Amino acid sequence: MQQEEKMICRILLLIILTSCVSAGSFVVNVTQTCYQAEENHNITLEWTFTTKPDRSWTYIFILCNLITEDKLSVLYHVHEGVEVSESQDAKFSGRVQSDKDALREGRIRLQLSRLRTDDSGLYLCEVNTDYGFSVGRCRLNVTGEIMQ
Ligand SMILES: *[C@@H]1O[C@H](CO)[C@@H](O)[C@H](O)[C@H]1NC(C)=O
Ligand SMILES: *[C@@H]1O[C@H](CO)[C@@H](O)[C@H](O)[C@H]1NC(C)=O
Ligand SMILES: *[C@@H]1O[C@H](CO)[C@@H](O)[C@H](O)[C@H]1NC(C)=O
Repeated sequence: MQQEEKMICRILLLIILTSCVSAGSFVVNVTQTCYQAEENHNITLEWTFTTKPDRSWTYIFILCNLITEDKLSVLYHVHEGVEVSESQDAKFSGRVQSDKDALREGRIRLQLSRLRTDDSGLYLCEVNTDYGFSVGRCRLNVTGEIMQ
């Protein structure tokens, strides 16, 4: 619990820092700030970040987390250009599909399948490269299926 609180504090600090240091040319954008979906459906969350054609892919770090009131869960982790599936929270296991081709074009495309209501919350992606650092966030709201 305390570990998670520390991580949440760290992320909040990053948000504050990146909002202040807005002079940098490195950005992480979201294609949608809010997603609405139904339980058991799939959704693709997308972020875009600044790319530099002449840079190598070894210095790229990405961490995408789901932040809810009481918990922080790792959705997606890339370390030195390589996906680290071991970091992923068990709740997302087997439900996340990333698009590696899109990533090379500066797009983080994550398909989340078999949505659950507890997937709802704030999704935050931090991208760190040797030419800049930034954070992008979006919200997902998963509602229960309406039985008829
Ligand atoms: C959701 O994604 C899974 C795996 O990618 C696929 O098999 C399934 O047909 C998709 N379902 C819907 C409703 O799109
Ligand atoms: C981010 O959004 C800004 C404003 O819409 C746009 O000018 C910029 O090109 C976008 N950058 C990326 C990498 O998506
Ligand atoms: C989630 O969607 C439902 C149904 O549209 C809506 O009633 C509810 O206010 C939404 N919640 C949030 C946090 O946006």
